[in-house]
Amino acid sequence: MRIVVFGASGMVGTRVVDEASARGHDVVPVSRRDAGRGTASLDVCDEVRVRALLRAADVVVSAIRSRPGEEASVPETTAALLAAAAATRTALLLVGGAGPLTSPDLSTTLVIDDERFVPARWRSSAMASLAQLQACEGHPAAWTYLSPPAILEPGARTGIYRRGTTTLLVDDAGRSHISAEDLSVAVLDEVEEPAGIRHFTVAY
Ligand SMILES: NC(=O)c1ccc[n+]([C@@H]2O[C@H](COP(=O)([O-])OP(=O)(O)OC[C@H]3O[C@@H](n4cnc5c(N)ncnc54)[C@H](OP(=O)(O)O)[C@@H]3O)[C@@H](O)[C@H]2O)c1
Repeated sequence: MRIVVFGASGMVGTRVVDEASARGHDVVPVSRRDAGRGTASLDVCDEVRVRALLRAADVVVSAIRSRPGEEASVPETTAALLAAAAATRTALLLVGGAGPLTSPDLSTTLVIDDERFVPARWRSSAMASLAQLQACEGHPAAWTYLSPPAILEPGARTGIYRRGTTTLLVDDAGRSHISAEDLSVAVLDEVEEPAGIRHFTVAY
């Protein structure tokens, strides 16, 4: 498949590019700065160039993250990607945040409001992920939103993960975590065999 990956210079995006390349896909990495490895340099709001890229793609994966302090831009960048995906009829998989998930043992509480998983220093980025999901909801694009667990960081590729729906997954010790490598395995599993579920999560 031809897969465009936005955020290709970032923590998640580099690993999605690696996983997709290892599986033999035709990968088009994208970020604003040239990160090497054939990265296309453009902003997701560059409507003309983004649509040209997507017209030649089967799937677009977004691993875009706003810089700290620029979280207010998230609905705009998400809307730009959604519009381009809809206009070009390209399936869009967004790697978003854990914030919009429901807390594991508090069915009326979102993770953004649960300080066990979102300490105060993460709150603005968690709020941005809620706004990101809200930008998707009701949009005609063929979008899927992947919420990571509370902790997503570089680590090992085990190829093993659990898949959930819209409730944060925790392990037996109460930890909610996955490596960016294994999250990328889940991204490619979904790209290759879409489950048809709009919002899902994965974790160990
Ligand atoms: N537990 C959690 O919920 C959790 C934890 C970590 C990450 N995440 C999510 O995972 C996703 C990826 O995060 P990350 O940590 O991998 O991000 P990151 O390392 O900060 O990388 C962000 C990427 O986005 C690109 N980018 C930002 N604005 C852009 C724009 N307007 N146009 C094109 N590219 C743009 C950056 O490239 P340039 O700078 O070159 O533009 C970079 O490649 C985000 O949605 C983030 O919220 C969730």
